[in-house]
Amino acid sequence: MRVLRAGVVGAGTMGGEIAQVIASAGVPVVLKDIEQSVVDAGLEKAGQVTGAQLEGLVEKEKLTQKEADAQAEEVVGRITGATDYAGFGEVDFVIEAVPERRPVKQSVMAELDAVCPGHAILASNTSSLSITEMAEATGRPGKVVGFHFFYPASTMRLIEVIEGEDTSEDTLQAASNFAGRLRKTAIRCGDAPGFVVNRILNSAISEIWKVTDGEGLDVQEVDRVIQESRAAPVGPFYLTDLLGLDTVLHVAEHLHDSYGDRFYVSSAMQKLVADGNLGKKTGKGFYEHGSPQREQAVPANEDLPDSLAERMSLKTLVEACLVLEDGESSAKDIEIGMMMGAGILPGPFTRADGQGLDTLLESLERARSEWGESFEPPLILRRLVAQGRLGKESGQGFFAYPIPDEGQTRETIALETCGSARLGRVRTDGDPRGDVGIVWLDRAPANPLSPQVIAELGDLWAEVDGNLRAVIFASSTIFTFSAGADIKKFTRMSPAEVRELIDAAHALMRAMERSSTVTIAAVNSLAFGGGCELAMACDIRLAAQSASFGQPEINLGIIPGFGGTQRLPRLVGAAKALEMNLLGDPIGAYEALELGLANKVVPDHELFDTALSWAHGLAGRAPLAVQQIKRVSAAGDLDEGVEAEKQGFAAVFESEDAKEGVGAFLGKRQAEFKGT
Ligand SMILES: NC(=O)c1ccc[n+]([C@@H]2O[C@H](COP(=O)([O-])OP(=O)(O)OC[C@H]3O[C@@H](n4cnc5c(N)ncnc54)[C@H](O)[C@@H]3O)[C@@H](O)[C@H]2O)c1
Repeated sequence: MRVLRAGVVGAGTMGGEIAQVIASAGVPVVLKDIEQSVVDAGLEKAGQVTGAQLEGLVEKEKLTQKEADAQAEEVVGRITGATDYAGFGEVDFVIEAVPERRPVKQSVMAELDAVCPGHAILASNTSSLSITEMAEATGRPGKVVGFHFFYPASTMRLIEVIEGEDTSEDTLQAASNFAGRLRKTAIRCGDAPGFVVNRILNSAISEIWKVTDGEGLDVQEVDRVIQESRAAPVGPFYLTDLLGLDTVLHVAEHLHDSYGDRFYVSSAMQKLVADGNLGKKTGKGFYEHGSPQREQAVPANEDLPDSLAERMSLKTLVEACLVLEDGESSAKDIEIGMMMGAGILPGPFTRADGQGLDTLLESLERARSEWGESFEPPLILRRLVAQGRLGKESGQGFFAYPIPDEGQTRETIALETCGSARLGRVRTDGDPRGDVGIVWLDRAPANPLSPQVIAELGDLWAEVDGNLRAVIFASSTIFTFSAGADIKKFTRMSPAEVRELIDAAHALMRAMERSSTVTIAAVNSLAFGGGCELAMACDIRLAAQSASFGQPEINLGIIPGFGGTQRLPRLVGAAKALEMNLLGDPIGAYEALELGLANKVVPDHELFDTALSWAHGLAGRAPLAVQQIKRVSAAGDLDEGVEAEKQGFAAVFESEDAKEGVGAFLGKRQAEFKGT
């Protein structure tokens, strides 16, 4: 679904900026509140934010002042203020940002259901309330979704897309696509209290609240220690002051009620709220705002610095694992959420993989005996350690990591060959490099298919073609499989250079398709443009649940250049391919499966093992037969195809492998094919 017009209800702290984000993405938006003065304030806020953003571009000399003024006028001109629902009969996507109270949200949802067109998606910016319950107030529960921005909405890049019990896959995909259009990153979450980011952050911070309350520590000193340790970008008390103590207290109580004692409600915060001290907005909270800072106190405990930061980091990991175990989100989305929504860099799983999961398991066991049950090592961590998946060093932990062969690390890609011990486990020294290869796309975060990548892939392919039996294309970053061509490089290339690049990419992809080596794309994340085209040139496409595919070239006014107009219709049919190439909207993994673009969809954490398992299975197939099947399968029209098949059959039927295969079948033994 294409959003041509949007609505925002509630023009408070969040609503004004949300409208601004939508308008600056070129979408007209109506912003409604109950009071005209609040609408005016929301519009003013949108204007200020737009002005500040454009001023930045003028300073960087990317725009002239005149251009900036004209753009500002255009952006603000796309926002219409309202105190009634008059403009809502034309919207495709509405976001409610009214106060965090269930009855208020439910009555707004019911009103929206009555005034918005039947196809419109009704989204909620709630931080903690149930999407399922809000959907119950409407006659379109399949079209109700959580769409949780972070404060401040204009600068924070994350949106949590929350799936209520009845939210349809179409709605989820449309919401993710709309987030992409707003230049935000969407992560998917289940409808559980606190969703992903607030739940994990609150769990971690509540450890700090608990120890500070219990030991009477100085909050500024605690903040300093946490910030210096880089366990979090801002001290937890200062952050609470910024967000508003009443809001944070409300969330903390809700999470304590929902999950129990591993969420602690700060008594110091309760007292401050009872006295009307709500943080920065009232001038006083844990800090005095606008007055000189107090002198820093001496830490009460000499061990304080290390143990505090460790406590917060370990609790972050525990809660992140529990979100994963509960099936509320994928490891990738949790990781991205904590990086973009909480500023924890790297995120908890990459951090843990880097430190070694066995080490962390020991630390957690120690922490549990010292600090209590909230540090109980999560099951998933125990399992990973039991499987020998100890993190980055071992090649697998929460995520999979390259262990390239010696001399096989190029600037943008790396080759790892492996035997079956890599499957389901980790690389071991005794594991011989076998006949399966993994080509790691290794240019985080976007894995662009630049001229250099195409050249390196071409060289590498010449080495492995026919020598390895199966090759997996995998990404070493969670952010993308490959986001497509390197647009910046494109703009600096001459037409002749572009032609050369396109020729090289086609030569590579046709060579892959004609080879006796089977190719598998393990699509872990976004496969857009050239990334999607590379995946389509592979023989098999395995997709993680959170993967998405798309040919967005049309948005740049160009067309797919690496075969997207040819392979896509062959895979998904002419009509759908035309739609995807003309609209440029991405599709999710399950739709890709339904259409025939993906061969299989698996949970994110199973993708790498599934790809290895398929590769090892396919590596045992007779190479000559593999090559002929690949070569003739999609050959031209039917008559040409049948002719090609006849020739291919004859070529293979005479081979040694054919004799071996038939002999092994009759002899009831395992065939060993040599490619002759
Ligand atoms: N403030 C944050 O940091 C933050 C961050 C993420 C999400 N949220 C969520 O966003 C939502 C809004 O939060 P906020 O901080 O902007 O609240 P806010 O109190 O600043 O704004 C809410 C606005 O809604 C208006 N309103 C109330 N009833 C209405 C109705 N029936 N129709 C139209 N407008 C109505 C109010 O007049 C007010 O202007 C909440 O669900 C909150 O949990 C807040």
